[in-house]
Amino acid sequence: MVLLSTVRASNARLKDPKYYPPDPVAVITGATSGIGEATAKEFAKCTVRPRIYLLGRSKQTYIFMSVDLSLLKNVERVCEEIKSEESRLDVFIRASLIQPNHMNFTHENRHPVTSEGIHKLLATTVHSRLLSISLLLPLLRSAPSPHVLLIAGGTKEGPIHTTSLSALTLPLAAIRPHLTAMLTLSLEKLAQQAPEVSFVRCFPGAVRTRIFERDGSCRIWGMKWLFAVLGRWVCVPVEECGERQVFYVSGKRYPGGVGNGKGKGEEEGEEVARGSDGRVGSGVYSVGWDGESAPASVEEGLRAQREDGTRDVVWEYVLGEWGRVRNI
Ligand SMILES: NC(=O)c1ccc[n+]([C@@H]2O[C@H](COP(=O)([O-])OP(=O)(O)OC[C@H]3O[C@@H](n4cnc5c(N)ncnc54)[C@H](OP(=O)(O)O)[C@@H]3O)[C@@H](O)[C@H]2O)c1
Repeated sequence: MVLLSTVRASNARLKDPKYYPPDPVAVITGATSGIGEATAKEFAKCTVRPRIYLLGRSKQTYIFMSVDLSLLKNVERVCEEIKSEESRLDVFIRASLIQPNHMNFTHENRHPVTSEGIHKLLATTVHSRLLSISLLLPLLRSAPSPHVLLIAGGTKEGPIHTTSLSALTLPLAAIRPHLTAMLTLSLEKLAQQAPEVSFVRCFPGAVRTRIFERDGSCRIWGMKWLFAVLGRWVCVPVEECGERQVFYVSGKRYPGGVGNGKGKGEEEGEEVARGSDGRVGSGVYSVGWDGESAPASVEEGLRAQREDGTRDVVWEYVLGEWGRVRNI
């Protein structure tokens, strides 16, 4: 476990220009509430003169851009706007999007889809995230030490169903491990294009946020009651969660695969993490709520999916869907 004291010591150093460059540019989605908001506040507090773009659908603050990121056309538009304003991007954090009602199949039909014809869960967790990273990659590559963080699903990778990559015929229980593995393997493909970028995807833990107000299903009510009773033992406080997210994108523990490796492990207590392919400092990291890398069983599953060609099949599918939507 990465101790909270290690996280705090690292975050406290971010005002030191020898440790972390001043004037960082960051894009944070889902920053109007919950984990994204706590992360944005911590990043703003810890860094020197940050310029932060907040992407969400409500509230006006910082450079706020109102956008529904479940639609790929919106993702393209907002990324183009950022690219027209900035010459580099130091930090890109995706905190938005899985919403309970995307999993509540009784709400609309068995498999809720976006107006672009993509399963809502896949649209928000896989396509929207990957497309935004891909479009912002040139800006990220212009930064001295670029970091990408996806908040959700780390260490939860499982079997990929190549006969139903769209997830439209999968039962709910199979969808989470399926799309989580698709996302991690696709990040590895992006890392091949930009090995100097650090990609972290984390599971934030159970955090009491507005996510549990967005849906009235029995399952969510059950979780709310469980957290009300056991919350102080099982939940991560939202402020601590924000501190940990800032650590992922600024500490030395999760460096890019090559290029920006300077400082790897140089700070006490910040040894370099093991990447999703089992290599220390590989550049793509799947971590749990406490910052620890995925267990060997998960790494083994990913290794098999890499070796049997599933990763390439997934990436072809992702690119194909982007092309299809572009032509709608
Ligand atoms: N809380 C937990 O226990 C927990 C556990 C595991 C994973 N996570 C993951 O952590 C991430 C953050 O969750 P949270 O707990 O902080 O939830 P939250 O408090 O409900 O915040 C969600 C954020 O996403 C934004 N958002 C939602 N749909 C959007 C859309 N279509 N386009 C643009 N922005 C959108 C919301 O802003 P607007 O409504 O203003 O647009 C809000 O800022 C999510 O990916 C979630 O799946 C949370």
